[in-house]
Amino acid sequence: MTDSNIETIHQNIHQRQSIGQLIEPAPNTEQLEKAVQAALTAPDHHRLKPTRFVVVTPELRAAFGEQLASALADLGETDSAQLDRVKQHPFRAPLLVLVLTTIQDHPKVPHFEQILSTGAAIQNFLLSLQAQGFATMWRSGAVVESNWLKQQLGLKQQDLISGIIYIGTAAKAIAPRAEIDSQDFVKVWQVT
Ligand SMILES: Cc1cc2nc3c(=O)[nH]c(=O)nc-3n(C[C@H](O)[C@H](O)[C@H](O)COP(=O)(O)O)c2cc1C
Repeated sequence: MTDSNIETIHQNIHQRQSIGQLIEPAPNTEQLEKAVQAALTAPDHHRLKPTRFVVVTPELRAAFGEQLASALADLGETDSAQLDRVKQHPFRAPLLVLVLTTIQDHPKVPHFEQILSTGAAIQNFLLSLQAQGFATMWRSGAVVESNWLKQQLGLKQQDLISGIIYIGTAAKAIAPRAEIDSQDFVKVWQVT
């Protein structure tokens, strides 16, 4: 890899920031497929392939909002204002992708490793979309805890809705990320 390619890859990583206000255009089928392919290369102990993607297309956002409200009601929410609010959530972006973790009981791969694998997959997904000119926001919210919603998505109770990824184009430019001093987060291991 050339120095300039290395620099470009690092710029893409550093420039990724969550954007709450997302507008058209959203990625087309090929662009989304590229991002899914990138996601599916994530480290994955014993290649269990725990990560699944559910695409909520723009025209189904209202129906998906209804499902989110039902999920919130399933969790005990009775405030109609809250339920109405969640119905609008899918309209925060033109395209949503749910990223799920289907957990297997495996003698060598504990559940947490499978969940981390989905986390790595999501980061690849976000970075691929960023490299293709799109902006994203990884969200969750109370709804991901709803067993009713899991059931609707074909998941078992132990599986996870690991992210609701909002995808589109940034509605406005945002300030670059502040520099992070890595010294606060890194130390050299010492013999104790
Ligand atoms: C698993 C997960 C769930 C998240 N859920 C939400 C959410 O529901 N709402 C929200 O505002 N931010 C959520 N975030 C945080 C944003 O995705 C984002 O990472 C954070 O705002 C920091 O911004 P940055 O990505 O630009 O550094 C979540 C992050 C992770 C990793």
